[in-house]
Formats: sequence, structure tokens, C-alpha cells
Amino acid sequence: MDRMQQTKERLDRAGQAHLLVGAEKLGAPELVRFLNEINSLPLEDLAGMLAQTSSQKSRDLSALAPPNIIHHNAANSQEFREVGEELIRRAKVAAFTVAGGQGTRLGWRGPKGTYPATVVTGKPLFRVFAEQLLATERRYSVRIPWFIMTSPQNDADTQAFFADNNYFGRHKQEHIFIPQGVVPCTDADGRILLSDAGHVATNPDGHGGAIRALHQTGALKEMVARGITQLSYFQVDNPLVRVIDPVFIGAHVSAKGSSGEMSSKCVPKRNAAEKVGVLCNFPTPKGDRTTVIEYSDLPAAMAQQRDAGGELAFGAANIAVHVISVEFAQRLALSAEIKLPWHRAHKKVPCFDPATGAHTQPDKPNAFKFECFIFDALPLAQSSVTLQTTRMEEFAPIKNAEGEDSPASSHRIQSDRNGAWLESVGVIIPRRTDGSVDAKIEIGPLAALEANDLRNRNPARSIRRGEEFVM
Ligand code: UD1
Repeated sequence: MDRMQQTKERLDRAGQAHLLVGAEKLGAPELVRFLNEINSLPLEDLAGMLAQTSSQKSRDLSALAPPNIIHHNAANSQEFREVGEELIRRAKVAAFTVAGGQGTRLGWRGPKGTYPATVVTGKPLFRVFAEQLLATERRYSVRIPWFIMTSPQNDADTQAFFADNNYFGRHKQEHIFIPQGVVPCTDADGRILLSDAGHVATNPDGHGGAIRALHQTGALKEMVARGITQLSYFQVDNPLVRVIDPVFIGAHVSAKGSSGEMSSKCVPKRNAAEKVGVLCNFPTPKGDRTTVIEYSDLPAAMAQQRDAGGELAFGAANIAVHVISVEFAQRLALSAEIKLPWHRAHKKVPCFDPATGAHTQPDKPNAFKFECFIFDALPLAQSSVTLQTTRMEEFAPIKNAEGEDSPASSHRIQSDRNGAWLESVGVIIPRRTDGSVDAKIEIGPLAALEANDLRNRNPARSIRRGEEFVM
């Protein structure tokens, strides 16, 4: 049977026969490409994805409770640090960045990781992470592999950016790019949409697609072969993330009962309305588990609820920094029973009608996009730690062009953190009446990974109001 016939039958079975309307008008190479594209899609899963996502809103949140949070203190930090450092030294830890998102809110045309993020020199996000890795490698005399999840849309540009920058001075072979999968966008009846003649409208399958991508590209096998046991997971949008944090890794593997399977960092929510997911606890027959509830799913009354101390009861913001054990990732990838759920969002998706040849630029949502979220793996983890940190130290994401979580807000937090680090070694820092740092201060990872690293550098001086200072 030829490829066309096979595809037709598969589409018929999946109720998607409309995709081939007008396909006879495509040239031979376009048709081959189109058939390959269709055949790479998870067509058989679509009905299940639709059914599962239509019943999602009915989730019962009444049993949720605030999470058990570990707070840093001098004693446990030192203990965790020693455990984490030992694993880093023994080359058991890899970095893992999810960078496959479309970055539409920021309006940046290239991959988000190429965005100039730092306060004075405008270092791109990827460089900030690479320099942290380089500094960590030097400190522990080790090589740290860096797995970077891209999407089919930005993989080539991402890889070219690393090559053009000579891998930021790190060994080329320690960069493993893994393009994530895509899923088709559908209309309200579950019919797959075309973006153009011979092109299916698709979107990357969410950061939860990381598990599939790690498995399908052979990255998980490679980790096992290299003896890596822990993945330090983070999003591409946060220039203050601690890429490899020995304290967090140590806390994760010291989880009660057994070594942690998946752990998280949180910061206190800025206010009840902040658009972040919150970490929660919920009871299961197998004991308490951790979960993340997205802000859009958290009822207003719960978002505003206060505890006895006046703090937000559901105020542990998920900053999307996790340690994931390789064993757990393998279990998720290989088990037929445990699958991350799909979520769907109603979005405006430009599309093409092969019957009329018309392109539509919708002015209101016309399509469903499907995604999996990595944090849905948390409730599947048998052991998990939630470590609290501070926004100023570790969370200044760049998501929007303006307002909250924008380059401007990130720069303010970066200067506040760097100012506080310098103050801790005696530098005089100008501050505004609201306490924020009144200067633009950048400290590169090769100068210091944390405040303590400044002790030997003796930057003894003061910084003037409005000054741009880089080290
Ligand atoms: C996310 C979290 C939220 C958390 C916040 C912290 C979700 C749904 N919510 O929100 O709980 O409080 O971050 O900053 O994630 N990505 C891919 N492939 C994809 C989609 C996304 O690699 O298919 C990557 C992006 O490149 C980015 C990250 O995932 O690094 C976050 O994606 P985004 O959709 O921007 O999540 P947020 O809405 O910011």
C-alpha cells in the first residue's frame, strides 16, 4: 500500500480525513513532507486528549493543604551543601533547561535564551547559565553536561547561537540539544487545523513534553551511561536561577524516607493575585503528595486565604526550579500507567481552509492548544522536598514586555540582589527610600556564584547613585 493510502486510512480511523482535502494540488516534495508531518503526529491520542481535558475543571481542591516547606538555616544549609557538593564532584548532576517555549508574550523574535537579560552588559540568558556552569565546573573540577530542550521551531536557531558563541567557553560535547515533540491544534470539535496548504497547525507539547523528549532522543539512556543521577531543571526565562545549587541538590537527596524523586523551590507569593502556580500538599492513600495548582485554577477564596500568622495559606510560588532524579524520569518515560495529563488552552491560531483556499487571522480564540506540564509529575513522586528561597536571590523572570516579570522588573531585582551581595562584603550601596538599590549593578557568574564568593575579591569601595557597575 502506498504512503498516501496508508495516511488516508490512518486519518479516516482518527476522524481527521479532512486534512487531505486539496492535497492533490501540492507538488511532489511538498506532499511527501506533508504526509511525513501528518504521520509523525499522535493522531490516535487526540480523542483521549480532548476527552480528558474537557473534564479537567471538575478537579476537587478541597483536600489541598499548604506544603511542607524546608527553610534554609545555617545548620541545614551546611549539611545539604556537603551532600550536594559531593554529588556534583562525582559528576552525578546534569543541568536541564526547558527552552522550547514560543515566547510570544515577550515579543522577542529569536529563541528566548538569546534575550539580553543582564542589567549593564545585556548578557543573553544562555550566557548567564553557561557561565554559571563554567564557574561550577572550575570549582569542583568536573564537567557538567547541559541538556537543553528546544522545539522544532527554534532548535536550529538555538544550536546556531551556541556555535556562534563558541559554547561560551565550555566543551561543545557537554551540550545536548533535544527538540521536543509537537501536537496538532484543533477546533472545538477536535478537527485538526492547517496553518497553510500542506502544513498542520501545531504547537510544542509543553514543558511536560520534556520526559517524552528525553526518552525519545536517547538522552535518558545517555545520562544513565554517564552515571548521572540528578537533573537540575530550570526554565529559560530566569536570569537569577541557581543553575546548579548544591544546597538544593543536597536537600533533595536527603528527603525523608528515601532520596527525593522530584523536588521544588518556592518563594513567597508577592500578593494573592500574582500569576504563578502554587505548591500544595494533598493526601493520597499512599501518603501526602506535592502538587502545583496554576493561578488560573486556584479559586479566589483559596488564593486570598490567610494562615494564623497572617501569611497567604497558599502562598508558596512555584518558581519552576526542580531537581528530578534520573530514575524517576525513566519511570515516567517507560511506564504505561503513569502519564502526565494534558491541559488545553483556547487560543487564536491563524489557519488555512483547503476547501476555499482562504487564510484566517482570528480575532478571538478559535482553537485548542494542548500541553503537558512538568509539575504534574510532582504528585507521582514518592518523595519530594519543597525548599523555600527568596525572590531577590533567585527569581527575576523575564516573561512580558512590560510590567511585572518584564526586563525592567528583572533588572531591578538583579541590581537589588547584586547590591545586597556587595553590601555583605562592606561595599556602600545607594538605596532609594523604598529600600531598592539605586544603581545598575551586574555581577557575572565567573566573578561570584553566591555572595560568599565576593569575600576574597575585596571590591572595597562605594557605588554612586545611578552608577553602572560590573564585575
Ligand atoms: C510557569 C509555570 C508557573 C510558574 C512560573 C514561574 C506553567 C504552566 N506555569 O508559568 O507555575 O509559577 O512559570 O516562572 O508552566 N516551555 C518549553 N516548551 C513548551 C512550553 C514551555 O520548553 O512547549 C518552556 C519555556 O521555554 C519556558 C518555560 O517552559 O522556559 C515556561 O513556560 P511558560 O509557558 O512561559 O510558563 P509560565 O506561564 O511563565
